[in-house]
Parts: sequence; C-alpha cells; structure tokens
Amino acid sequence: MNNVIIACDFASAEQTYGFLDRFTGDKPFVKIGMELFYAEGPDIVRQLKARGHRIFLDLKLHDIPNTVRKAMAVLSRMDVDMVNLHAAGTCDMMRAAVEGLTRPDGTRPILLAVTQLTSTDRERMNSDILIPGEVADCVRHYALCAKQSGLDGVVCSPLEAAMVKQACGKDFLCVTPGIRFADSDKGDQARVTTPAMARQMGSDCIVVGRPITAASDPVAAYRRCCDEFC
Ligand code: C5P
Repeated sequence: MNNVIIACDFASAEQTYGFLDRFTGDKPFVKIGMELFYAEGPDIVRQLKARGHRIFLDLKLHDIPNTVRKAMAVLSRMDVDMVNLHAAGTCDMMRAAVEGLTRPDGTRPILLAVTQLTSTDRERMNSDILIPGEVADCVRHYALCAKQSGLDGVVCSPLEAAMVKQACGKDFLCVTPGIRFADSDKGDQARVTTPAMARQMGSDCIVVGRPITAASDPVAAYRRCCDEFC
C-alpha cells in the first residue's frame, strides 16, 4: 500500500482533474479538504472514486454529538476510505461519530481524530486556545481519548507519532501532515518534518499538499515523497 496522501487543496474539480491527469499510471491516495468539498459537493467524491483513487475526506467535524452522529451517517453513505473530526469535540462527540459512521452491515471508513493542527505551536496553543503545557502532552491526551472512544487513529505531527504509538499501541494509526522536503518552504505549518523523518518516527501515512501541488514537477515531487517515505 502506498501511504503518501496528496492533499488536493484546489478550488474546483477541473483544477483537480487537471492536476491528477499528470499522474499517468499512478493512482495516488488523495485528500479532499474543505475548499474542494465546499466547491464541488459529494460529486467530487464519486468522480475521484470512479477514477480509482482512495479518498481521505478531511472535513474535521466538530459540533454537538447529535449533529456529528447525523453528519457522519451521511458521510458513511459516500464511498470514502478515511474521515476525521476534532478530538477537542469531546469523547461523547467521538463515540457519537463512530455510531453514526458505522453502516448497517457493521463496516465503516477509517475514523481519525485531529489532535492539534500542525500549524499550531506551543505558544499559540497556550495563549489562543488556553491549553497549558506542551503540545505533545495535549496530543497524547487527545489520542488516548480517541482510542477509548473507538477511533482508529489520529492526525498529528510525525514529531508526536512515536509517543502516540507508545501510549495507544502500534496498530493505532498516525496520519501526519506537516511534511516538507529539507529544501522547501514551511509556509503556515509549524511542526514539520521531511518524509524520511516521518517514516523513521513511525507515521503510517503522510499527507502532503504544497510540496507536491505547488512543485514545478508534481509527479517528480510525489515520487520523491514515496521514495523517502516508503
Ligand atoms: O500544503 P500542506 O502540505 O501544508 O498541506 C497539509 C494538508 O493537511 C492541508 O490540507 C491541511 O488542511 C491538512 N492538515 C494539516 N494539519 C492537520 C490536519 C490536516 O495540515 N492537523
């Protein structure tokens, strides 16, 4: 399994297909985020699935348990492979999400909890969100809550992956954005590593956006990620 997920942060289906058509032969695992989903709706999921891509639908739900349960029930009817929510929504919300996402036949997409966004550093977490202490301690706590609530894993920085595995077990998934090549720009991300470091630190899947989508040769950048990570 190729576990490099390309974040298709595009404004339209047309741009997304134009980008993915460059990958002749490869069918990358893709992430559909808020921008693309809000622009195109569920049809973009159906279209990309029909083209043979695995899909991480990154909508980061965070609301009262009843609303999240019902929203997850809708998402469970789309043929996505992975969905997520914010762990900050509480264990009640995460348990409701598992209930809503589980189909009548007992199957469901992989469900991940976002711990702390990889754009959040200690200073912002302490002063803006008013969570004291280290980011790693917050990530560990949210990961344990997610595991207890029946989720499959977390979205975190590779910097926290080993610690999450130690706390929650090796089968608990760590899907990690905040990936940059050694020679690329950090942009708005704060907690970053290279694909090779992410592998060493125990990530199961890396999520890579701009280092691939904004590269002059996206296919070469994707292959570089795969070579470094796999
Ligand atoms: O362009 P870049 O590689 O920074 O993109 C990272 C992607 O991962 C974005 O789509 C962003 O929304 C997503 N993401 C993140 N941090 C999280 C969860 C998701 O950067 N904790």
